[in-house]
Amino acid sequence: MHVLEVKNLSFTYSGEPKKALDNVSLNLPYGKVMILAGPSGCGKTTLLRAITGLIPKFYEGEYKGEVLIDGKNVLGITQRDLVQSIGYVFQNPENQLVSYIVEREVAFGLENMGFDKDYIINKTENVLKELGIYGLRNRPLRTLSDGQKQLVAIAGILVMEPKLLILDEPTSTLDPAAAKKVASTVDQIIRNKGISAIIVEHRIDLFSDFADFMAVMEAGKITDFGDIKEVLERYSGEDLRVPAFIDVQKKAYGRVIARKFEEYLSLLNASSKRGKP
Ligand SMILES: Nc1ncnc2c1ncn2[C@@H]1O[C@H](COP(=O)(O)OP(=O)(O)OP(=O)(O)O)[C@@H](O)[C@H]1O
Ligand SMILES: [Mg+2]
Repeated sequence: MHVLEVKNLSFTYSGEPKKALDNVSLNLPYGKVMILAGPSGCGKTTLLRAITGLIPKFYEGEYKGEVLIDGKNVLGITQRDLVQSIGYVFQNPENQLVSYIVEREVAFGLENMGFDKDYIINKTENVLKELGIYGLRNRPLRTLSDGQKQLVAIAGILVMEPKLLILDEPTSTLDPAAAKKVASTVDQIIRNKGISAIIVEHRIDLFSDFADFMAVMEAGKITDFGDIKEVLERYSGEDLRVPAFIDVQKKAYGRVIARKFEEYLSLLNASSKRGKP
């Protein structure tokens, strides 16, 4: 069984002329990590909203197809069960953070679910330690760096122990050092806990070492999906076949560092090897 099955999913936002999702199908097995990539506006966030049920619950439009989480239609799952199944970290962590103090923020989800105080304190402490931000627990959120805020947002989600963790461009607001720190922390947690994850990311190099699958989207469609190494290899030598690949570089580095995919891959490999002990 798969933690996630998306079946022939199409969605058009109300009042929009074209489909934001156009017959999307994909599966993710338990314990596996998938990177979702593609140019800006291709529908990545929209797909995540549909996976989490925010579409069609909070966004109006024409919806076709289905999303199964743990074998159950996402639209039939109660809100309480849903937050324990899927943890969704938004594209901009600022939109997620609601509290004044770090510890309160991380405990917020569990408090909402009505767990008892000792359980909440215990879980919150553990997740803060796991993410290496225990020392920040009494700090006002506004005094944190962007990287620290991102880790707090992730902590607030992980504390609910979701089966499927969804991160929408977790490093897009971060400088390279903070991005690396967030990526390696996420890597460790995912490995230790064996949770499944979908990571939307332009800096594929940060996550490609530990991701299992990769999906590429363009104009609302999945244009490639499979084992991440195979998907990345398919682009080798075909520089512009997938505009996503050029777009990825522009977003990650502010410019195109390699015109051929092969060249880009070897740069990525070289930089990831340097990062290893
Ligand atoms: N709330 C909304 N209402 C109407 N149209 C929307 C809404 N959100 C997104 N869209 C449109 O749907 C399409 C897909 O957008 P989406 O945000 O899913 O892309 P994305 O791949 O996440 O882009 P990015 O990489 O910039 O985050 C775009 O054409 C966008 O303008
Ligand atoms: Mg997006």
